[in-house]
Amino acid sequence: MNPLIRVIPAFLVRFFASPYVAGDSLAKAVDVVQKLRRERHLWSTLDLLAEDIRTDEQAQQNVDAYLQMGDAAAALPVDVRPTLSLKPSSYTTKPMQHGGDAAGSREAMFAIAERAKQKGVALSIDMESRHWTDFTLATFRAMHERGLDHVGIVLQPRMNRTERDLDALPKGCRVRLVIGIYREPAEVALTDKPAMKERMLTYAETLLKRGHYVEFATHDDAYVRRFLEQVAKAGIGKDRFEIQMLYGVPRERFLADLLRQGVKARLYVPFALGWDMAIQYLRRRLDEYPAMVWLVTKNLFSRR
Ligand code: FDA
Repeated sequence: MNPLIRVIPAFLVRFFASPYVAGDSLAKAVDVVQKLRRERHLWSTLDLLAEDIRTDEQAQQNVDAYLQMGDAAAALPVDVRPTLSLKPSSYTTKPMQHGGDAAGSREAMFAIAERAKQKGVALSIDMESRHWTDFTLATFRAMHERGLDHVGIVLQPRMNRTERDLDALPKGCRVRLVIGIYREPAEVALTDKPAMKERMLTYAETLLKRGHYVEFATHDDAYVRRFLEQVAKAGIGKDRFEIQMLYGVPRERFLADLLRQGVKARLYVPFALGWDMAIQYLRRRLDEYPAMVWLVTKNLFSRR
């Protein structure tokens, strides 16, 4: 992460990046999910921002929050119901990037996945930095072996290992492809964005050919168009994939255009149970897209 972004005070991070967060309670996030579906015809995946866990109590609170999110999602009609997205690091005080063993995370994810399955709510496991990849994929595969086939996974084409990981996926599982937000060293990953996106197209084709459901997640209009051309050429039905973007990234017109073409689109909708828990996520968004500072300032003044 850019050292400057690391030292920006939390209140400023919150100010500039808050358009990316759906609110500071589950009720507010559920409200956003319903509005997106009813007013803009977009589906959602709901995510609790809960990183940098310091105590077992925080880890347990995150499990409880996800169980409640599953219940809240299930209470919505099927034609509005969001999926859930979770991060393995939310449930442990022993994070892999600091040499930990992610104690407690596997059990927590199983508990959440089992409850979500009972309730008819689909779940995706986000992919974190390279330290987490083995753990996350092993847990994901174990879930499918136990019949938790409503759980999907995220793969990052930036990582050189992803080509092999594609071969070890459970049959027909749901896969979100993202270039990957964590800066990884050149020994294990691509560092050139266009090259990552080319790989993303190639992997999407491979996954679709193998019978997976593909969630093509990018804000890059040109690559979304190329993906759509690719699937049309291959005669792949529109029920085999969807386009995903992050809540708050200004893509209204492009998304409306996709919907007109009959393409399914979903937004990743993060919320927090306290702004302190959202700061890490928001710093990453600022790091990735510093122009956000300008955009937010411009919006602020144009509203006056
Ligand atoms: P790129 O960064 O090139 O952006 C394309 C264009 O979109 C830019 O030129 C810019 O105009 C605009 N844009 C991009 N970011 C913007 C922003 N924040 N604000 C305003 N405009 C912006 N990563 C990960 O490692 N693990 C994960 O589990 C996930 N999950 C995930 C889910 C979903 C639904 C999405 C969309 C993304 C993720 N990501 C992720 C993040 C992903 O890896 C990647 O970092 C971002 O999507 C940015 O890459 P793009 O492909 O959008 O290209």
